[in-house]
Amino acid sequence: MLITFEGPDGSGKTTQLALLAEHLGQQGYLLFQVREPGGTPIGEQVRNVLHSMANQEMNPRAEVLLFSASRAQLIEQAILPALAEGKIVLCDRFYDSTFAYQGYGRGLDLEALRQLTQFATRGLCPDLTVYIEISPEEGLRRRRQDKSVEWNRLDDLPAVFHRRVHEGYQRLIAAEPDRWVVIDGERSIEAVQADVRAAVLARLPQS
Ligand code: TMP
Repeated sequence: MLITFEGPDGSGKTTQLALLAEHLGQQGYLLFQVREPGGTPIGEQVRNVLHSMANQEMNPRAEVLLFSASRAQLIEQAILPALAEGKIVLCDRFYDSTFAYQGYGRGLDLEALRQLTQFATRGLCPDLTVYIEISPEEGLRRRRQDKSVEWNRLDDLPAVFHRRVHEGYQRLIAAEPDRWVVIDGERSIEAVQADVRAAVLARLPQS
């Protein structure tokens, strides 16, 4: 089973994924945890290029190809083998981020992104996508406050970009409501985690 986590920057999805992984591990589930971009040695190098504040001149089409390159590598090298071993794969961001950020945020053609995604993923889709909902303004406020996390090139885009990303997520959720679980992220970590666990456990076979 492939479970992905999505949300605007600063939504707390990475913290929530880590807490969920700890809980599922204690319940005896076999897990594999990855993140995008990254998750493989090649993907982590691509991540550095994508995130570097020095790369301000990066073209949006180059950007989406790099995200897709990291994803293709991650799927072949890590996700498919883990799924074949019967593990539950928890992935911090997946192709929905490409539609939200490069499609709705940057304005790249959505049909072209669909074809690119199909090529990069060979058609692999998440079984469940947990969306941590937070307003883009609150997300950016939290990102600025949290000095433990690097401030990257995408965080640095203007508020209007992050509003388009947020709006894009709403459209993606509306288009496939059965795949997504939407959780209100503007609450305590514990309250959000309780809902994340309930939503995920309801879909998992008993360990
Ligand atoms: P994060 O690991 O802190 O969530 O940072 C990843 C950043 O990259 C975040 O701003 C979202 C962005 N991103 C895209 O723009 N497109 C993508 O396809 C992915 C996976 C991430």
